[in-house]
Amino acid sequence: MGRERAQRESWGTRFGFLMAAAGSAVGLGNIWRFPYLTGENGGSAFIIIYLICIAIVGLSIMIAEFAVGRRTSLSAVGAYKSQNRSWTFAGVLGVISGFFIMGFYPVVGGWSLAYMLKSVTGLLALPEATADVFGAFISAPIEPLIWTIIFMALNIAIVAKGVAGGIEKASKVLMPTLFVLLIIIIFEGVSLSGSGAGLTYLFKPDWSQVTGETVLAALGQSFFTLSLGMGCMLTYGSYLSKKENIPVSALAIVVMDTAVAIMSGLAIFPALFAFGMEPATGPGLVFVVVPAIFAQMGNVGPVISLLFFAALTVAALTSSMSLLEVVVAYLIDEKEMDRKHATYLSSLVITIMCVFSSLSMGQMSGIKLFGVGFFDFFDILTDKIFLAIGGMLLTIFVGWFMKKEDLKNELTNDGTVAFGFFEVWYNLVKYVIPVVIAVVAVMGIAAVEQRNLMLFGLFMIILLGVFSKKL
Ligand code: PHE
Repeated sequence: MGRERAQRESWGTRFGFLMAAAGSAVGLGNIWRFPYLTGENGGSAFIIIYLICIAIVGLSIMIAEFAVGRRTSLSAVGAYKSQNRSWTFAGVLGVISGFFIMGFYPVVGGWSLAYMLKSVTGLLALPEATADVFGAFISAPIEPLIWTIIFMALNIAIVAKGVAGGIEKASKVLMPTLFVLLIIIIFEGVSLSGSGAGLTYLFKPDWSQVTGETVLAALGQSFFTLSLGMGCMLTYGSYLSKKENIPVSALAIVVMDTAVAIMSGLAIFPALFAFGMEPATGPGLVFVVVPAIFAQMGNVGPVISLLFFAALTVAALTSSMSLLEVVVAYLIDEKEMDRKHATYLSSLVITIMCVFSSLSMGQMSGIKLFGVGFFDFFDILTDKIFLAIGGMLLTIFVGWFMKKEDLKNELTNDGTVAFGFFEVWYNLVKYVIPVVIAVVAVMGIAAVEQRNLMLFGLFMIILLGVFSKKL
């Protein structure tokens, strides 16, 4: 196998690893998806459930993924396979999730790139028209496709360069920029008159809106936003040095990710209420509300808007790189391809999927798979089912198929660093989390609109499981 031939790549520095892992976590999930999910699910109550999912399930699974990755020094499929062949399917499910997320993610990345240019070419001239502008843009046949392709080209250029030279180097500059920009936007939004209602919406829970679907949405989002349940953090862990403190790193990444999500909420909702817009606007939310804020800012508006969409693009890029890396690492480790060929081949397939997703917003909106268009097909299948089930499989694998001693050694660097919560973590992973995910999944699937799509997803997973040894 490839791993015996060549020395495995690794991160250059601790800061570089943290920025790359945080870069993977912080992405469209935080700035684009978190606000609109909050808007669709009634605000504060959703946020509270989401925070509980992050603290209990998300953090534990991130620690588990890093531990498995570093212990095996292999990417998703190889890591499972090396321990137990019957588990190969869980790794393959991860690679499929990565592929499917990449089937729509770069489309949104392309929108963001396009909005950089639009910021300075008249988008902000008519604040009341931002919704129409967005609708017309994403449903056009050619323009969004061109931007998606440019976005993919950036991914290819970085991932082909490898772990330390590409992914790590880019993340170290791009991530801090994002933080600064968000802070500027929050100040602008909160200072608008009428913004107080947005703060109430964000921080005062209305529990009457909560259903099984809300909880599944919050759980799915906690996986998506932390890049969990598909072997991404596992793969990043496989490039991690034995000296790194896994629990502390995981905590730092979770805190950064959560901070950006809450900051995005603060950037959007106060302004949204100040402008009298609707919270449940769906996927167009950032692209509609944020430009409207900038339009109020006079001459500096276009510049700040350009910077904001640049930061969003960057956040999207550091995440999509990591998604692409899961697929690429699989081809390198398991199919013995070299990095460049693996990157080109997977990107070609991904770009074709994105063409369908993008066209499903307009030209091809009539074509439905299980009642939804291509974009939603990839999005719902991964976010609402594959990631959560992938996370559940990982916890079962770690809790029941790995040795407790090995895990303890991995998480304490052979006893050289302390991990006081080891027992708590272990019991959560072994008993609590698998049950919680199973219950939420059943409740959620029962409540969700696209039930056939969900059942199809479950069927795919079962099929993979049955043929696991052949994979
Ligand atoms: N965490 C990323 C985001 O929030 C998306 C992602 C999911 C990246 C899964 C890698 C793996 O945008």
